[in-house]
Amino acid sequence: MISTDVIIVGAGIAAYSVGCRLCDSGKKVIMLTKSEKQNCNSTLAQGGISVALRDDDNYMSHYEDTLTAGCNLNNKEATLELVKTAPSVIREFIDHGMNFDKNPDSSLSFGKEAAHKLARVIHAGGDRTGLKVMEQLYVNMADRTELHENEPVIDVIIKDGEAVGVVTRTADGKYHTYCAPYVVLATGGIGNLYPGTSNDHTITGDSVALGYRCGAELKNLEFVQFHPTLLTFGGKNFGLITEAVRGDGGVLINEKGEKIMEGVHPLKDLAPRDVVSRTVYKYTLAGEKIYLDISAIHDFKTRFPYVSEICETNGLDLSRNLIPVAPGAHFHMGGVKAKPTGETTVKGLYAVGEAACTGVHGANRLASNSLLEGLVFGRLTADNIISSDRKLKPCEYDFPTLEPKRPFPEKGQIKKVMMDCVGVIRTEEKMKQAIEFFEEYMPDKNGFGRINPDSVTNQELELYNMLTTGWLIAKAAYNRKESFGAHYIAEE
Ligand code: SIN
Repeated sequence: MISTDVIIVGAGIAAYSVGCRLCDSGKKVIMLTKSEKQNCNSTLAQGGISVALRDDDNYMSHYEDTLTAGCNLNNKEATLELVKTAPSVIREFIDHGMNFDKNPDSSLSFGKEAAHKLARVIHAGGDRTGLKVMEQLYVNMADRTELHENEPVIDVIIKDGEAVGVVTRTADGKYHTYCAPYVVLATGGIGNLYPGTSNDHTITGDSVALGYRCGAELKNLEFVQFHPTLLTFGGKNFGLITEAVRGDGGVLINEKGEKIMEGVHPLKDLAPRDVVSRTVYKYTLAGEKIYLDISAIHDFKTRFPYVSEICETNGLDLSRNLIPVAPGAHFHMGGVKAKPTGETTVKGLYAVGEAACTGVHGANRLASNSLLEGLVFGRLTADNIISSDRKLKPCEYDFPTLEPKRPFPEKGQIKKVMMDCVGVIRTEEKMKQAIEFFEEYMPDKNGFGRINPDSVTNQELELYNMLTTGWLIAKAAYNRKESFGAHYIAEE
C-alpha cells in the first residue's frame, strides 16, 4: 500500500495542470495512466485556446459566444468563472515559458474558429497547440511527481461514502493500492465508444464508469460533440482536420462542387459544430462524399503542417485542394458532475477536464474552450485541494464478488450501436434499442456495478467501462425528450 497527498488518474492537460500547481505548493502527487503519458487527447489537439486577450475583445463577449454555442444550457456561473479567469491563467502560463504563435511584430496571433464573434484563438506550432502545451507542462512539472504508466485504475476505493484511494493492476497481474485524501479523475472523454473519432485510441469513458461505480452524480451525458471534419476515405478516418482550416477560408462542398453550408446557417462553414456535423452527416448517410475545399488558403502546408502530414502520410494528394471529410466523435460535454473547483458529489473525489461536467459547455462546446477548461479548472481544482484539510484515511480494497456477464461483445459492436443509435442524429426507437443492447451485458439487475477483477483481464475491464458508459449515455439520451445542440432527435 502506497500513501500520498493526491492521486491523479489521467495524464492530459487537466491532469498536468492540477499536478503542476500541486507540486508548486509542495504536495506529493502520484499520477496514474492506463497507457503512456502521450496517449491523451491533449497532445492531439490541433485547435488552440480561446481567450479574450485582444484589446478589442472582452470576457463577456467570450461568455456570450460560449452560451450561444451551448444552446444556453450552460452553467452560467461556471462559464463566467472560466472566461473571466482565462486571461490571467494564460498570461501566467506564458510567463512560465509557454510560447504561443506570434505576428511579425511579436504580438500574439489570434485565429478564428466556429461560432466565435471574432478571432480569439491562440495557437502554438500552427496546428500543434496541444502537443506544444503538453511539452511545456512536462517541462514545468520536471521530476516533481511520480508518473505510473500502463497502470489502469480498476476502482476508486470508497470508505464511509468518501474517496480514500484507488486500486490498480499492472500488466504482470499485480494489484497496487494507493491511498490519498484526494482522488482526481482526469481521464478525458469517450471518443472510442464510436467508430470514427478524433480521440486517442485509449479514450474509452473510464472516468464516467469509475465515477458511476462510486456513486458520483453524472451530468449531461447525452451531449456528445461530433467534429464535422475528420479526414475520411475508404470507410476509415485518419484524424482531425482542424476547424481553423475553415477559419482560414476552407469551404465544405459536395461532389458537384456546391457549398453545402450555404443557406443552412448564417455563419455558413463556421456555424456551431452540431449544425455543420449534421449537415455533413446527412450527405454521407445518403452515400455522397463531402470535401473540404482548401484552394482559398495560401501556403496551406506552412499554415497547417500537422494536417498536411496526416493527409500525406495517408496517401492524400493535397495538390488537388480537396480533403474528403466526415464527422467523428470529438468531445463529451457530459461527465462526472463537478464544480469549477473539481469537487464532485462524493467527498474526496474530484473530476476535471473532459472527464468532468461543470456545465460550461452546455449542449455543445464552443471551439477551443477545452484546452482552456483543462488549464483554468485544473488550477482551481489544485487551489481547492491546497486550501482543504482532508486527512489520509486507512484504505483497503474489498474485492467485489459480482461476476461479469460473458461473453463480452467486441469493441466494434459497441461502437456500431453507439453510432447508429446514439450518434449525430437520434430517434427514440434507436435510443431504446441501444439501452436494450447494453442491458444484455449487465451483470445483474442493479446496473453495471463493481465486478471481481480476478475474473477479468485489464482489456475486459476496459470493455466493461465502455459498456457502462455507453449504457449511461444511451439512457441519458433517451431521457432528454427535446433536441438541444449535440443531442438531436429526428422525427420518426
Ligand atoms: C479543431 O481544431 O477543430 C478542434 C478544436 C476544438 O475542438 O476546440
